[in-house]
Formats: sequence, structure tokens, C-alpha cells
Amino acid sequence: MSGEPGAGTDLGRILLVGFMGSGKSSVGRALGRALGWRFVDFDKAIAAEEGRSVPEIFRTSGEAHFRRAEARVGQGLLGEDRVVLASGGGWAAAPGRLDAVPPGTATFWLRVSCEEAVRRVGAGARLRPLLAAPDAEERAARLLEEREPFYRLADWAVDTDRRSVEDVTAEVLGILRREYPAVTRTEAE
Ligand code: S3P
Repeated sequence: MSGEPGAGTDLGRILLVGFMGSGKSSVGRALGRALGWRFVDFDKAIAAEEGRSVPEIFRTSGEAHFRRAEARVGQGLLGEDRVVLASGGGWAAAPGRLDAVPPGTATFWLRVSCEEAVRRVGAGARLRPLLAAPDAEERAARLLEEREPFYRLADWAVDTDRRSVEDVTAEVLGILRREYPAVTRTEAE
């Protein structure tokens, strides 16, 4: 955390990071609507670029290929303005990622417990190749532990356990209004 992330910089984009099931896509979509900004989900952009779904990419080309595509697509999207970005759960967990976001990027870690993440991902686990296994809970716990030090580098952390999308979105908007009053007043109201 830089201390005063918004000070002296215009807000160009919002980047949500966090584990699978933390609500990045739902909250990102709601934020985009509230601000009148475009919303882009990294996974959807990768699938569009590759012409196949994320599970298909993992299955046919492997995780390393997916990670390269994710890095490329993420870098391109971070160059855009007036956009809310939902990264995939693994994007921020590579060294240097959150340290290297361009100026004007407000980064939020949507925090979720391992139990809640597995519960939310639930029946949709086959869409998340990393949790599509009988020991999903153990895997999630291990991954979350490895990744937390990276997620922690976001400007702000917002808890999502037992909270609605509306509630989490309102907290993020509250922070943005406080830190970037000009943008959020004119765009959202
Ligand atoms: C992944 C998370 C997924 C997707 C891929 C890998 C991860 O995105 O990018 O299955 O490594 O945590 P969500 O966080 O949107 O589920």
C-alpha cells in the first residue's frame, strides 16, 4: 500500500483482485454500472482472444499457456481508461504484478475466506480448473495461503464474507468517493 493511493492522480481504472469466488466479476459489473464505465473480466477477454473457454485452454494447452495469455491480456487492459477490471484469481499472485500497475489505477482486494470461496464456487467448480477436484477445499486453502501476501499489496482490502454484492459495491464506491471525489461525483451521480 502506498499510503495515499489517490493523492494527486486522476483515476483512470479500477482493478479488482482476489481469490476465486470473491465476487470480482459481480462487484466489478455493479461498479461499472454505477460509474458509467466499461467493465471487463480478464477471463472473458482471454477466452475471446483464444476463441475457447478457460477450462478448455487449461485442458488442451495447459496452465502455463493460460498464464502467458493472462499476462498479455492483463497488460493490454491496464492501458485502458474509464474501465473497471476484474482479474482472474491468479493474475495478482505473480511477483511484481500489483507493484507495476500504471498510475491512476485503484486496486481493491476483495477478501474471501477459503470456506466461503469453495461454497460460492460450488457447483460451478468445473469452470475453475484449479478447484475441479475432490480435495477442492484443501487446494483452495493452500492456494489462498500462497496468494494472500500478493493480494495484500492492493491499495484497499474489502471483506466479502456474508455480504451482498450491493453491500460490497457500496463500500468500494464509498472509498472511491473519498479518494477521488471529482471522478466519482461527476460519473456516478
Ligand atoms: C484462476 C481463477 C479463475 C481463472 C482460472 C484460474 C486462479 O478466475 O482465471 O480458472 O488461478 O485462481 P476467477 O478468479 O474469476 O474464478
